[in-house]
Order: sequence, then structure tokens, then C-alpha cells
Amino acid sequence: MGEAQRYTRVARALHWLIALLVAGNVVGGIVIANVENQNTLYDLHRSTGFVILCLAAIRIVWRLTHRPPPLPAHMPALQKFAAEAVHWALYGFMFATPLAGWAAANAYGATVSVYWLFNLPSIAPKDEGLFNILKGTHAVLAISFTGAILVHFAGAMFHTIVQRDGLMRRMWPV
Ligand code: HEM
Repeated sequence: MGEAQRYTRVARALHWLIALLVAGNVVGGIVIANVENQNTLYDLHRSTGFVILCLAAIRIVWRLTHRPPPLPAHMPALQKFAAEAVHWALYGFMFATPLAGWAAANAYGATVSVYWLFNLPSIAPKDEGLFNILKGTHAVLAISFTGAILVHFAGAMFHTIVQRDGLMRRMWPV
């Protein structure tokens, strides 16, 4: 496969770095939601969420300035539409999920510290009612995000195992 049919090196690096951090935060988030007094894990989860938000900002700028390789010609229009709809949903979740988490922490009355290095400004007032809404919003976003990732992963596996069309090469890190 020629390089022209692949995502750029930067797009591939961002894809897998963000995928790794998101996977870590999904697992960490499940632990936080089910085990009490996870203060250190909370700090790590919030810090990583902020890093995901920053990387998502870089990634969207890169995406809008570097057109990805066209999808394979053999793909039916509906399948192309579905793949692209899931991709844009994933971009949306990369922003919305950490932002809702950050605001929820502030509404709870906590300050988000980034790896104990510096604090983020507050983006929501301390308010119990608002906290409950934002906490629920963050949870719904995180669950939907995970669902979209599973659909995305199933699509990648469909191409790799059933269609064997080499699509995975386009995003492969090396
Ligand atoms: C192990 C899990 C994953 C696999 C196997 C995978 C695989 C892929 C592949 C093969 C593509 C390129 C599709 C094409 O050729 O057009 C792609 C694109 C993409 N992936 Fe993943 N991915 C995974 C996880 C994730 C995660 C966790 C996210 C979100 C955080 C994500 C977000 C995206 C986005 C937004 C695109 C579209 C890029 C664009 O065209 O703008 N992926 N993925």
C-alpha cells in the first residue's frame, strides 16, 4: 500500500496515543465509579482527561488541514456513511466527555489538578444540583463513547478478518 493511501504519521500517532489514553480512562472510570475513596485514581483520571482534550484539539486541527486517504472504492455508500458518522461521533466524544467531567468536578467543589503540576481554572460553579446533572451527563457520554468505540472496533475487525482488504494498514502505527 502506497503512503498516499495511508493516514499521515502524525494522524496515526495521535490516533493510537488517544486510543490508549481513552482506554485507560474508561477502565479507571469504571474503578472510580465502583470503589470508594479513589483519590489518587481520581487525580490521574482527571489529568488524563485533560491530556485527551488537548490532544483532541491538536488532532481536529490536523484532521481539518490534512485530508485523509479516500475510503476504498469497493465500500458501499451506506457503509462509508456509517464509518464516517462513527468517526465524527468519536471526535465529538473526545471533547464532550472530558469537558463534562471537568465541569462536574468543579460543580462538586473540586479543583482539577493536572498530574499535581498545575491546577485548571474552574468552568462551573459549586452547586449540588448542577453537579448531579453534570455527573450524569459525563456518565452517559462515557458509556456512549465506549459504545461508539466498540462499533468502530467491530468495523475495523470486519475489514481485517472478513473482507481482508488491508484497511487496517491505513491507520497502523508503523
Ligand atoms: C483498538 C481499537 C481501534 C482500532 C482497531 C481502530 C482502527 C481504526 C482504523 C483502521 C481507522 C482508519 C479507518 C480508515 O481507513 O478510514 C481508524 C480511524 C479513526 N479512529 Fe480508530 N481504532 C481504534 C480505536 C479508536 C479509539 C479509542 C478512538 C477514539 C478515541 C478512535 C478514533 C478514530 C477516528 C476519529 C478515526 C477517523 C480518522 C479520520 O478519518 O478523521 N479509534 N481507526
